[in-house]
Amino acid sequence: MSNLVEIAKKILLDNRRSGYTLPTNNKLYPAQWNWDSAFISLGYSYFNIDYAIEELETLLEGQWDDGMVPHILFHDEDDTYFPNHTTWSCGKEIPSSGITQPPIAASILSIIVKNNQLNEIQNRKVFNLVCKLKKYHEWFFKNRDKNQSGLISIIHPWESGYDNSPLWDYALSKVTIEKNLSYERRDLEVSNNDERPLNKDYDCYITLLNQFKTVNYNPNKLLNKSMFNIIDIGFNSIFLKANKDLLELLKLFKLDYLDFEEMINKTEDNIFDLYNEKENMFFSFDLKNNVQIKIPSLTNFFILFADLKNNDMNTKIIKNLEEFNIDEKYFFTTIKPDHHSFEEKRYWRGPIWINTNWIIYKSLINKNRSFAQKIKKQTIQLINQNGFHEYYSSKTGLPFGANNFSWSAALYLDFMLGIN
Ligand code: DGY
Repeated sequence: MSNLVEIAKKILLDNRRSGYTLPTNNKLYPAQWNWDSAFISLGYSYFNIDYAIEELETLLEGQWDDGMVPHILFHDEDDTYFPNHTTWSCGKEIPSSGITQPPIAASILSIIVKNNQLNEIQNRKVFNLVCKLKKYHEWFFKNRDKNQSGLISIIHPWESGYDNSPLWDYALSKVTIEKNLSYERRDLEVSNNDERPLNKDYDCYITLLNQFKTVNYNPNKLLNKSMFNIIDIGFNSIFLKANKDLLELLKLFKLDYLDFEEMINKTEDNIFDLYNEKENMFFSFDLKNNVQIKIPSLTNFFILFADLKNNDMNTKIIKNLEEFNIDEKYFFTTIKPDHHSFEEKRYWRGPIWINTNWIIYKSLINKNRSFAQKIKKQTIQLINQNGFHEYYSSKTGLPFGANNFSWSAALYLDFMLGIN
């Protein structure tokens, strides 16, 4: 077995705390993140199924009574991160942020269930996870589907997971920054300035957070009050796929699933409203400013992850994806390199991320196997040559951000040991 497989396992174990895993071993992210945890759980499933289940159990212990699963859980009340639990001040038993993140957990759980023979105790635990995920997904339908269209919206860039993507530039330029806003960033103490979001982005992030606090994170008020409200194609694609996977899990555990079937059909029909024929691309829609967001982001291609039952459309989108990084040494950049907003080093404005490569890889396995294999091979190579970092340059492969990054390690394990 490759030495790097053993190193990947060690990274997860070293970053593990009681029942959950930090995204990295430095002070950049000293808590449990929602979609990080899901990817991490998949990594554990290749060598410790109990840790895999426990990772998701701990995440879902932080679920709010209304069903929302926060984007961050601050289990040990560390104060080296900003904004930490005192800034969010949500008043929950497990201190948390007051917003969510891409709900990929159901898709991950479905892979784990398919790949493993679970014993009775593990099965019971998974049953409980499925019940909680059902409540989480229902929370989206109830609280984030403004037009009852089956398309849900996000209210903060952090909810997308791709925080400072150029996708949000225009919407954020319309946010009125709070007067006398004052805060102290902690991320720049442990990472390079030119690899992190700008202060002007943080001004918006914190203005929005403070606004949410004034309505005590009441989901109804948040949806109407937030100065940021976007139907993100990436988020909706992940959610649609997660609903399809959850539907299978609900059937497996003989739980009520009819509402899910109905919602999936509705989303699947209405998601085509986001397709732009001229650009042959699905784009996100800014509900607040009533504009389509025509930025060439890799996350637009997550529509392939949603497994739309439209082969012609899938084929057209794949053709577009083949041209996305035509001149790059390594792929996939988060933003198309010839776009004016592309930055080689800065967080979600250009670099390659292992989780986005993984999503695209998974999307293509049942649609274009040779392309999927090419992505897998190249992603493995990128890690073999440069280690388990947070993100990488498409020009040189050089790593940026945090080292010993948990989801890079976890997804490496899936690439190397998964049954695809
Ligand atoms: C950060 O702190 O950069 C996180 O991505 C926010 O979720």
